[in-house]
Amino acid sequence: MKQRFPFTSFPNGWFRIAYSHELPLEGVKPLYYFGKNLVLFRTKQGSPHVLDAYCPHLGANLGYGGRVEGETIKCPFHGWCFNKYGKCTDVPYANRSLPNVQIPTWHVREINGLIFLYYHAQGEAPTWELPQIPELTSREWTQLKQGSQCQINSHVQELHEQVVDIAHFPTVHSDHSTKSQGSEIDGSIWKQYLLSQQALKIATLNLQIETKIEIILYGLGYSLQRYCISGIGKLEFILLFLTTPVNEEELEIHMLISIKSFFSKTITSALTPLLIKTLENEVKKDFPIWKNKLYRTHPILCEGDGEIMRYRYWASQFYSELIEISRGSNTIL
Ligand code: FES
Ligand SMILES: [Fe+2]
Repeated sequence: MKQRFPFTSFPNGWFRIAYSHELPLEGVKPLYYFGKNLVLFRTKQGSPHVLDAYCPHLGANLGYGGRVEGETIKCPFHGWCFNKYGKCTDVPYANRSLPNVQIPTWHVREINGLIFLYYHAQGEAPTWELPQIPELTSREWTQLKQGSQCQINSHVQELHEQVVDIAHFPTVHSDHSTKSQGSEIDGSIWKQYLLSQQALKIATLNLQIETKIEIILYGLGYSLQRYCISGIGKLEFILLFLTTPVNEEELEIHMLISIKSFFSKTITSALTPLLIKTLENEVKKDFPIWKNKLYRTHPILCEGDGEIMRYRYWASQFYSELIEISRGSNTIL
């Protein structure tokens, strides 16, 4: 790995690699994530699969010109075919036995119009799964709408650290009211509870606006955020904040949103782009910091900094090799 971050590998876990609509039946899509060329394809029967991109024969990239044939992908160079296990199933010009080769394969799941890959540095099988989101099967909630996407210079662990970094809210986000209500750890899941209470005066009305936020991290690629804002009616929405490493120092962010029916259909659909824009603007405020900062393995922390070291300890489970977590006297664990 390059040296800006001390991590020895990409973190293991589930990461978004495509939207379902980008991969029609028998579609092929080249990908570049985790510093690797990969190929994503959907077979005739409809299931998505990911293989390392390079053909074991003479090295063509299957993502560029490769074609799906039934349940296999055919290399564009000499026509060798590979199944979902990466096994060679056909060589058009070989009459006898097939070469005993296997392209590395990756575990894939398709949930709520999104395709995820389970990254594991040693290629091990998933030990946990992404959740079903009950809101998305309810008629009261809008369909998950694709918001913005961007690529930034940072690391997925660093990015999600902001969930516990309460002390940057006033300075970066001008948010002086959000406080932590605690966190819970359940294996690969980190749950963070936040609460904001603000007085709002509109003409002669004195309103008390309360925002409850539940952020659930499933590993370092999938953050499910539930917002409930009460004061003028009750506005509820969920944000999926998905992060995927592109290489050691760059990552991709995708945001999707679903809103619970609010007063009327018209108001609800008008709110969607507005909320996406607001959330996007808040995330963008962090960009210059993330882009230019360094990662301190031994940060000097003080009271009020939140659970940064506890978060890092939790995040360390996603690396195949142990990473150093500071336990020095000036840090909090
Ligand atoms: S390089 Fe793929 S079949 Fe020859
Ligand atoms: Fe932030």
